[in-house]
Amino acid sequence: MSRSAHPAGPRHADVLPEGHYSAPPADLNALDPKVWARTVSRDEDGVLTVGGRTVTELAEEFGTPAYILDESDFRARARAWRTAFGTDADVFYAGKAFLSRAVVRWLDEEGLNLDVCSGGELVTALSAGMDPARIAFHGNNKSVEEITRAVEAGVGRIVLDSFQEIARVAHIAQGLGKRQKAQIRITVGVEAHTHEFIATAHEDQKFGIPLAGGQAAEAVRRALTLDGLELIGIHSHIGSQIFDMSGFEVAAHRVVGLLKDIRDEHGVELPEIDLGGGLGIAYTSSDDPREPHEIAKSLTEIVTRECEAARLRVPRISVEPGRAIVGPTAFTLYEVGTVKPLDGLRTYVSVDGGMSDNIRTALYDAEYSVALVSRTSDAEPMLTRVVGKHCESGDIVVKDAFLPADLAPGDLIAVPATGAYCRSMASNYNHVLRPPVVAVGDGEARVIVRRETEEDLLRLDVG
Ligand code: LLP
Repeated sequence: MSRSAHPAGPRHADVLPEGHYSAPPADLNALDPKVWARTVSRDEDGVLTVGGRTVTELAEEFGTPAYILDESDFRARARAWRTAFGTDADVFYAGKAFLSRAVVRWLDEEGLNLDVCSGGELVTALSAGMDPARIAFHGNNKSVEEITRAVEAGVGRIVLDSFQEIARVAHIAQGLGKRQKAQIRITVGVEAHTHEFIATAHEDQKFGIPLAGGQAAEAVRRALTLDGLELIGIHSHIGSQIFDMSGFEVAAHRVVGLLKDIRDEHGVELPEIDLGGGLGIAYTSSDDPREPHEIAKSLTEIVTRECEAARLRVPRISVEPGRAIVGPTAFTLYEVGTVKPLDGLRTYVSVDGGMSDNIRTALYDAEYSVALVSRTSDAEPMLTRVVGKHCESGDIVVKDAFLPADLAPGDLIAVPATGAYCRSMASNYNHVLRPPVVAVGDGEARVIVRRETEEDLLRLDVG
């Protein structure tokens, strides 16, 4: 394909954003394996294929927009986490990233546990046959009904988030004649280098009990006296989309410090620590995520070193990756509806979805990549903004991206790395129907979450 230094013309160069797209990529048809699911490639006609199926067939069969999920990639990533941590640790997949019954079954088969944070996620897991003992129940405001259901079901652990919840869970468990295994979630005061809304270990936010001022120690004191609770460990989750391991290092240091204080005060060595999730993935070519085995090695070494220094038995470690497992395994397939060049600015490409299927760009200023996938093109790169069909100017899917200048209505484009927090945060804004999730593998494609229909919408509207 032909290329030039300023292919989109100086008028476009004037508005090039800082950062990821300071220049057009060398080859617009190339698919960077960092951001695409593992079985993605182009066939001899230039059409993107995944799991042995072309996107043109998938669009024909399932419609657009659709989330297309590479099942073998999901399983491989889940397995890689499991293998990296080995049998002396537990991997809890964070269901909030994306949960469906098929996913629960894959996790079960690959030997992972599951973190849920609402009654809805719990019921999804249980209805897919997940062993309750392998479920951790999270949340900063679990209702009495949710707690009761979780204790009755026999979940493996409840992660306690406040003093009131410590008393509440203990009371409910005791009433049911049970002793509920629990961890206390603490905030260790780490500033994670991520978006403010997804950082969770600093003190001025809603999650956890601060280590500072002795509050976490007081929470442990109370939990240890309650008959309805069996305190098995301490939990820390510092935030999301993190690349730098130093935050985990500080967190592990502080959590182990608390375990040591607990041993010194109560003569009890808590057997487990959970270091949460939050490991970053590549949304664009400039992101460089760590591999699970590097993360496992680094976390295990930190905890072991800290425990040796404190003369503590090394506790069983658990982690809760969500995005790092499912994020890279799916892309959103859209059909281009209109292409609107704005002179002196950029070209707006409107697709048949938008902020209702991907709120992350609007909410976190998230960066995404995009590619023309129903064909290749030798046309010049043009600077675009990929937008949705919603009545809101902030309805942006990809803020700044280069697409071929011959892009036209009817072309299929795809946004990679949308497996996490896109379907799970999807909405019905403007009564737009939520897209299906289609799992592909070995030449087969099947719907694991179906497309919403107008009947679904009207069924809820009982007035
Ligand atoms: N464990 C706990 C206690 C969590 O709160 C979370 C995420 C995870 C594990 C999984 O984190 P992950 O490995 O997926 O980063 N909606 C935001 C992310 C919110 C994350 C909330 N908690 C986004 O789209 O970036």
